[in-house]
Amino acid sequence: MGKIVIAIDGYSGCGKSSTAKAVAKELNYTYIDSGAMYRAATLYFLENYLNPSNPKDVERGLKNLDISFQPNPDTQKQETYLNGLNVENEIRSMRVSEKVSELAKVKEIRSELVAQQQRLGRKKGVVMDGRDIGSVVFPDAELKVFMTADLETRAYRRQQELLEKGDLVDLAQIQENLAERDRIDSSRTESPLIKMKDAVEVDTSHLSFSEQVGQIVHLAQQKI
Ligand code: C5P
Repeated sequence: MGKIVIAIDGYSGCGKSSTAKAVAKELNYTYIDSGAMYRAATLYFLENYLNPSNPKDVERGLKNLDISFQPNPDTQKQETYLNGLNVENEIRSMRVSEKVSELAKVKEIRSELVAQQQRLGRKKGVVMDGRDIGSVVFPDAELKVFMTADLETRAYRRQQELLEKGDLVDLAQIQENLAERDRIDSSRTESPLIKMKDAVEVDTSHLSFSEQVGQIVHLAQQKI
């Protein structure tokens, strides 16, 4: 049985990461969260007072940025490390969510992270989610999925996720952030979020989590 690359793109907060993770588990594939890399880079820039629209700061930031994924010894879940420190929780905070799309517009940052993502997926047998996976990172991916869901559903689900981590955030603030990120991600010059012609659209507004995972696993099994 051959291994394939599964590229999952789509709007913010429509469950790409959790779905991609579950699909990877089901197929015994590696899951790679490309958004976590942009988030970790954003955290680094914030903590070091670097401005992503200043080329000198970008050069400095990229030189010192070491992002990796390591499994949590207790849960075996992949967690994000920035320069040796576990930043899995911090990168999901609103502080990072509110800045990440500005940083993700920068060509030099994208080139570096895309090169790392391509290295991580070289051996196939990967599920990667993001905004440009089917268009730029793996244009030859055997399966491309474009996930959508209506904004209200996405905001509510994100609120529940944050709440599970003990973070109570106003629904309107989340909705605004998701809409703003979608606007920036879809209209930027560098690798904008687009639905590729060969991508299968999966609208999760009225699907349960196991239904959305099941649909994608089924699509994958037809390609394997
Ligand atoms: O996937 P997640 O919502 O964590 O991604 C955070 C942000 O990172 C997105 O809103 C987008 O600006 C950026 N991103 C990107 N390209 C990717 C993945 C994420 O531009 N492949």
